[in-house]
Amino acid sequence: MLECLCENFSLVIPTLLLGISYFLYYKKYRNYVFLQKDDAPNPNKPRGKCPPFYPNGWYRLLNSNELKVNEVKHFDYCGRNVVVFRGGNSKVYALDAFCSHMGANLGKGGVVKNKSCIQCPFHGWVFDGETGNCVVSSDNLTKKNIDQFEYHDIKESKKVDGEYLYKCYSGNINLKKYHVREINRHILIWYHSKEEFQENIPYEPLDLNVKLDYRGESINFVNCHIQEIPENGADIRHFDFLHTRLFPFTDLVGFEWRMLSHRASEDDLYDVMKHKYEFINDFKMKTLNTYLTESNKKYINVISLDSYVKILGWKFFVFNATGFQVGPALVNLFLKSKFWEVTFCQSITPLKKFNIRVSHQIYTSSYLPYFVSAFMLYSEVQQLFSDMLIWNNKTFAARLNYNLKTEADRNLISWRNWYASFYDGCNEFEKKQDALDW
Ligand code: FES
Ligand SMILES: [Fe+2]
Repeated sequence: MLECLCENFSLVIPTLLLGISYFLYYKKYRNYVFLQKDDAPNPNKPRGKCPPFYPNGWYRLLNSNELKVNEVKHFDYCGRNVVVFRGGNSKVYALDAFCSHMGANLGKGGVVKNKSCIQCPFHGWVFDGETGNCVVSSDNLTKKNIDQFEYHDIKESKKVDGEYLYKCYSGNINLKKYHVREINRHILIWYHSKEEFQENIPYEPLDLNVKLDYRGESINFVNCHIQEIPENGADIRHFDFLHTRLFPFTDLVGFEWRMLSHRASEDDLYDVMKHKYEFINDFKMKTLNTYLTESNKKYINVISLDSYVKILGWKFFVFNATGFQVGPALVNLFLKSKFWEVTFCQSITPLKKFNIRVSHQIYTSSYLPYFVSAFMLYSEVQQLFSDMLIWNNKTFAARLNYNLKTEADRNLISWRNWYASFYDGCNEFEKKQDALDW
């Protein structure tokens, strides 16, 4: 009896160790997070003659699980100050952060009331997230009546009719309401410099309806103009020069790439995107058919990337990626190999003019071991680091020297023209913002 117990006991320790190791492994790699410290070395360094800094489009603010019911957050990204909150009805709302009474920041101490309202921390005025209206209370959404006073001349404090302040408006007021979408586990916000497009949104983010398994994210901070980052995906030539290393310390194992970039609105898109391997071609055509529509293709650029791994001169195909650049700040990448599928969601958000937050979320086939998805995310971050060394130190090249005989340069010009369409009205908007920046 005693002998049997001793025998079994000798198994307890290895079993326990195995259990603990698996627990640690699971904790580390199940949802692998790579978070870079925001140590912008010099975000104010001049970077040449740049286009506007905050192109029009959908921007990712945060992950869905980072905003609980009744939680309030403040964002001053893209030159806007916005309060974002999740109402008692679980919906996400976004309004201008500064209260129209006396300018308190609703994102700092504001309290969610009832289903869709937020209350100002200064004197308790209530705003409805559904409309932006200042309302009587969170139970009574009738618009509140307001008298508005203004200085005759704020610079010289000129007195008119014996008064410095005059009544300039009487009626209802509201805060600017921003459109938000909660999609693919993210909370996205719509920014447009022109007021008319603030309401009439020309395209939507892609609803991936992801069936794959969420495996983690990387968050990095880059110092450059926003355009540099998506332009990289269309810059075919740099892949075979800058991104040839799989590990930073050796050349024995490396990458080779074959890359295409084409606007989704071009008539020959499907021909250009045809792939020589049938299983990739089927996947690619299905992906194009699923996500491209008549109304959104003007706002999408498609890329295709074949990845080969080279070991000691021997080369083999690993995967193809079909990528959609959707507007100025979102990219969805669909990777397909013989054995697995992976989707990356990339988003870039300018925190300041030259300080861009880059995030990647990875979703994989559920049977793929956690360490493999963690390694994929890690490899992706390694490639990003190669780019960051360039981006963090370069100037923006407004004028380029092209060799138009090459397809790569022709595509890059076409890409720049496409991206420039997202700058409509931004110059005027940003000039006004700069004037207020004191
Ligand atoms: S400043 Fe918001 S209620 Fe007074
Ligand atoms: Fe790159």
